[in-house]
Amino acid sequence: MNINIVVADQRHYKYAEQICETIYQSAIVRGTGIAKRTPEYIQKKMDQKQAIIATDGEKFAGFCYIEKWQNGEFVVHSGLIVHPDYRSLGLAKKIKKFVFEYTRKKFPNAKIFGITTGLAVMKINSELGYKPVPFSELTDDPDFWNGCKTCTNFGILQSKQNKMCLCTGMLFDPKAQKNSKEEKYTFDKKVLSRLKKIKQAFLLSPHKKENEIIHKDNK
Ligand SMILES: CC(C)(COP(=O)(O)OP(=O)(O)OC[C@H]1O[C@@H](n2cnc3c(N)ncnc32)[C@H](O)[C@@H]1OP(=O)(O)O)[C@@H](O)C(=O)NCCC(=O)NCCS
Repeated sequence: MNINIVVADQRHYKYAEQICETIYQSAIVRGTGIAKRTPEYIQKKMDQKQAIIATDGEKFAGFCYIEKWQNGEFVVHSGLIVHPDYRSLGLAKKIKKFVFEYTRKKFPNAKIFGITTGLAVMKINSELGYKPVPFSELTDDPDFWNGCKTCTNFGILQSKQNKMCLCTGMLFDPKAQKNSKEEKYTFDKKVLSRLKKIKQAFLLSPHKKENEIIHKDNK
C-alpha cells in the first residue's frame, strides 16, 4: 500500500462520484445526519485547489475539502472521508494534518473550524490545536449553515437559530495560539461522548427530562 496525499486537481475529477457515494453510504451506516455533496461541487473544489485527496495507486482512499467564509476570516474543513478499506491506518490523521498545514500556509490569519459528530475527528482536531466551542464562535454566514440543509438534523439546527445541533463545533484560532498563556485543549473521550449523548437525548427527543438522562447514564 502506497498512499499519496495531494492537493486535488482536474486529474481527480473521476473520483468525485465515488467520494460523494462513500460519504453518503458512511452516514447511513453510522445512522447520522450528513450534508450531501454533489460530484459537481467536489469538482469545483478540485478546480479551486481547495480539495485534498489520498489515493493508493489508482484507488480512491480519502478526501477532505476547504471552504472560506466571511472574506477568509474563517476556513472550514469539511467532507472528511476515508474509504472503508483504508480505515484505522491513521489515514484521516494524515489527511487532516495535510489540509491543516496547507490552510495555515494559504490563509495564515484565518480561524480554522469544523463541525462534527465523530469522536475520531474530535480527537484529531484536538491534537492539531482546535478547541470545542459554541456555534456562536464560528462563522455566522447563513450560507454556511444552509449547507446543512440536506442533513437529517437541519430542522434541529434551524429551531436553535444555528446556535446548536448534534455536531460539536471545533475551532483553531491562530491569534489564541500565539498567546502562550492559552492552554492547549486535551481530548477527553469520556466528556465528549457524554456531551454527545446528552445532546442526542435533548435534541432528538425534546420531551425527555434532564434527570431521566442523567439517571440512565449513571447506571
Ligand atoms: C472518521 C474517519 C474519517 C476516521 O478515519 P481513519 O483513517 O480510520 O482514522 P485514523 O486511523 O486516522 O484514526 C484517527 C484517530 O482517531 C481514533 N479513533 C477512531 N475512532 C474513534 C472513536 N470512535 N472514538 C475516539 N477515537 C477514535 C483513532 O484511534 C486514532 O487515534 P490514535 O492515532 O491516537 O490511535 C473514517 O472512519 C470515516 O471516513 N468515517 C465516515 C465518515 C466520517 O465520519 N467523517 C467525519 C465526518 S466529520
